[in-house]
Amino acid sequence: MITQNRKILIVYASQFGSTGGIADAIKNELSNENTIVDTKPIKDVTDLVGYDAVIIGSPIQFDKWTPKAREFVRIHRDTLKQIPVAYFFTCMVLSLQTEKSKRQGQVYSEHLFNAFTDVKPLAIGKFSGALDLTRMSIFLRLAFRFIMALTGAKEGDHRDWNAIRAWSKGIDQRLSFVRES
Ligand SMILES: Cc1cc2nc3c(=O)[nH]c(=O)nc-3n(C[C@H](O)[C@H](O)[C@H](O)COP(=O)(O)O)c2cc1C
Repeated sequence: MITQNRKILIVYASQFGSTGGIADAIKNELSNENTIVDTKPIKDVTDLVGYDAVIIGSPIQFDKWTPKAREFVRIHRDTLKQIPVAYFFTCMVLSLQTEKSKRQGQVYSEHLFNAFTDVKPLAIGKFSGALDLTRMSIFLRLAFRFIMALTGAKEGDHRDWNAIRAWSKGIDQRLSFVRES
């Protein structure tokens, strides 16, 4: 069954803003006369009442979705397991565009898929993010300089807007199907 007049929530965790920018780009792609899309930071969402589908995004930090994003799925799992859900993540490893970094992106994706037994996403978007060392504490800046020297990753905005739009187009139809209970 296709839902007319859908309402979709894109909820995101973001420490430095790049994941929020991706949430806005997905919103622009999915919004139309039949679809209202809201984007909200995780801290502003207390319930999911009125939404037909939810997209949840977070940066990868220390090889995982942020604790806040994982906690969000656990808190709202009873609702999330009844409606279409998609996840996405931002990370720096994908900015390298090597076979090794693509494999790492796939590992992040598989861990995320397996992280919640009862809330399974229709799709997981894997996006390269952005890193601005000047906005970090001295400790993090030093740690990232070290990691970047080791991996070859470069500071800057590596978000691929074409890839983000293509992923959004790809999930658009799938978010319209209501699961049979
Ligand atoms: C504390 C911290 C840990 C991170 N750990 C990883 C990591 O394990 N793997 C990776 O690919 N990127 C890692 N990153 C990079 C972020 O995922 C990337 O910069 C993302 O775009 C940041 O999103 P935000 O601007 O919404 O906070 C890390 C960034 C920070 C600040």
